[in-house]
Parts: sequence; C-alpha cells; structure tokens
Amino acid sequence: MIYLDHAATAYPRHPGVAEAMLQALEVAGSVGRGGHAGARAAGDLVGDCRGRLADLLGAVDDQRISLFPSSTLALSTLITDLLGKAEGDSHLYMGVLEHNAVWRPAVRIGGEDRVRFLPSDDDGRVMTEKLEEIDASKVLGVVLQHASNVTGILQPLEEVGAWCQQHGIPFIVDGAQAAGLVPFSVSRCPGLKAYTMAGHKHLGGPPGIGPCWMAPGYEPEPLWIGGNGIDSALPKVPESGPGRFESGTPNLPGIAGLAKALEFFEDHAVSDRFSAGHAQRQKWVEALQSIPGVEIPGEMGTAPRTPVIPLHLPGKAPEEVAAQLDARLGVRCRSGLQCAPLAHQHLGTLEAGGTLRIAPGEETGADVIDPVCRALAELAS
Ligand SMILES: Cc1ncc(COP(=O)(O)O)c(C=O)c1O
Repeated sequence: MIYLDHAATAYPRHPGVAEAMLQALEVAGSVGRGGHAGARAAGDLVGDCRGRLADLLGAVDDQRISLFPSSTLALSTLITDLLGKAEGDSHLYMGVLEHNAVWRPAVRIGGEDRVRFLPSDDDGRVMTEKLEEIDASKVLGVVLQHASNVTGILQPLEEVGAWCQQHGIPFIVDGAQAAGLVPFSVSRCPGLKAYTMAGHKHLGGPPGIGPCWMAPGYEPEPLWIGGNGIDSALPKVPESGPGRFESGTPNLPGIAGLAKALEFFEDHAVSDRFSAGHAQRQKWVEALQSIPGVEIPGEMGTAPRTPVIPLHLPGKAPEEVAAQLDARLGVRCRSGLQCAPLAHQHLGTLEAGGTLRIAPGEETGADVIDPVCRALAELAS
C-alpha cells in the first residue's frame, strides 16, 4: 500500500492514539457530569487536549478552544451565525477555492446572492491589493481557508486579517489543511475571530474532533444546545467558554486520542514539518512535470505550499486513473472534486471531473516517486 491521501486523513495516526482511545473507554464517568473521580478523570483528558491545542496554536487562553465533533460542524456554526445577522445588501465573502464545508452552509443559509468571492489570482490566492475595491460596509464576514486541499497553496492570512480588522469585519479561517503542518499563531494574526481545525488530518488524531479557537469576546450563537453539566437549571448555555459549543456528551475517546496525538509536537516543530513537506512536494512536482501527458493545474510560482499536488491527464477520467494506480501498485489517493467544486471551477478542471490528488505525508518515502511516476506515464500514454 502506498498511502498518498494525507490531505483526506492522517495515516498512520500519531503514536499511541489507538491505545489512548481504548483507555478512555475505560474511564467510568463523563466530563462535567458529576464530581466523582471518573468524571474528574474525563475532565482531565479534555483539559489536557485543550491545553496542548492552545500551546500549538499560540493561544493565550485554552478556554477559547472548543472541541466540536468536526471542523465541518464548527464552520457551519460560525457561518450560520454570520448569515443570521444578514440584512439589506450585505454579503459573506469567501475565497475562490473554499471547501464545501464553507460553501454549502453559506449557500443553504444565505442563498447564492449573499455569497461573494474575494479577488483572487489564477492560482486562487487572494489579491490583497484589490481588497480596497470591496465596499467593506456591506461585508458580513470573511471566511478563508489557510491551505488549499486541492493545490496546497497558502492564503495571505495576515494581510486579509489586517484589512478585516481595519473595517471591523469578522475574519474566520478554515485551518483544516494547515493545523499541525503550517506554522501559525492565532495570537499573531490580526483581525482573526475564529480558526477551525480537523483533528484527524495533520494533527494526527482520530476523526470525530474539530477543535476551534475563537477570539476573546467573539461569541457566535451555538448551532445546537443541550445538556453540558453547566448551569443546568437555566434554559440556555453559557454566554462564553467552550461549554457554549460542547453540548451533549463529548467524544471522550476521540478527545483522548487527539490529546495523545498532540504529544507528537513536543519534539517535532511545525516549522520543520512544513519545510520538509514543501521539499517533498518539490521532489514530486519535478518528477511529475517530466511525464508527457500529465499536467499540474495551477502550479505557478515558487511560494511554499503543502504537499498536495493536483494532476490532470487530458482525456482520462481521474477516477479511472486512481483505480488503475490502486490496482497496479496499491496507491491510495483521492480523485474527483475533493469536496471543492469552487476550486476546480477556478482551476478549469471542473468539466474534466476534477483531478487526481497526490498528497504524500512525512512517512512517504522518496523511493515511491519513481514507481508511481512510471505507472502514471504508462496510463497517460
Ligand atoms: C479545506 C477543508 N476544510 C474543511 C474540511 C472538513 O473537514 P472535516 O471533514 O474533518 O469536517 C476539509 C476536509 O477535507 C478540508 O480539506
């Protein structure tokens, strides 16, 4: 098996994750439900996870981090809240490469007319010099991904955030493809109101946890409410803090697994991971670019990216190429639209049914590049 689908989910998970999850199933109690030893042990696991996330993100207060069941649910919550404030001729702005986790809730709640796109170059990167052309008084909020799940490009968060801050616009970043892989501090990004993450991608944890950092004072409406063990006599959840967004019995095995996965960062710097990932990408790109009949859409400039490479083989269906690579070499990679039709529309690969996505991880040896490229060359011809 050659696993080239790290942008979808981590494999293998960081060391010890499965064992930590099993141990959490043995905890006799639930977070915030009672003061007995089991409930306290569960609370300690949650506290450990939040504290490690705060360290990783450069967050001053770990109580600003909520553990949603997925980054999709965190984004839905934030987008529903922003669009709930829509009136008159106001719009939600987003990047042109956004994932369906952003585009779909925005269109469902606000309708296509409420959605506008940030001025972007051919690669989909926001052209910050053109932001001033937007009438900021009509912007409800900006939602932008940190790294693309289709091409690996990074967005200029600091510049976009500074513009948002200048105009009092809430700035929300989808960090699903970046958290744990791209160096970033929530405390250093101007204007940032929320940063959403996927615990099962580059954080190396299990599925089922989507941490979200929110700026002090930023208190969107929760999408769902219910029991959380806090102020139970009241008909509402707290005005602030993680309890606002964590109603319902938390996924303790998932949280314990993520906490364990985050121990990895005690002796692995995110900056080193990013440099290694970029260098790895360059090696793949060099090899892939030399194959006749294989194109890399949107591969322009030398700015660092994550190791996510889209491939287009003119005249070949991406699904068929992926199936052939699997049959011949056991390659596991994603084909199609990767839940990002907007990105493919922008890159011009929507009509072709998307791309084949090569997403190596740090465990992927350089020795697999040659066999994969040889197989691609045969398939392309
Ligand atoms: C850029 C981006 N945003 C959001 C998501 C949604 O993450 P999840 O499916 O873990 O909720 C993904 C998942 O692939 C993604 O790549």
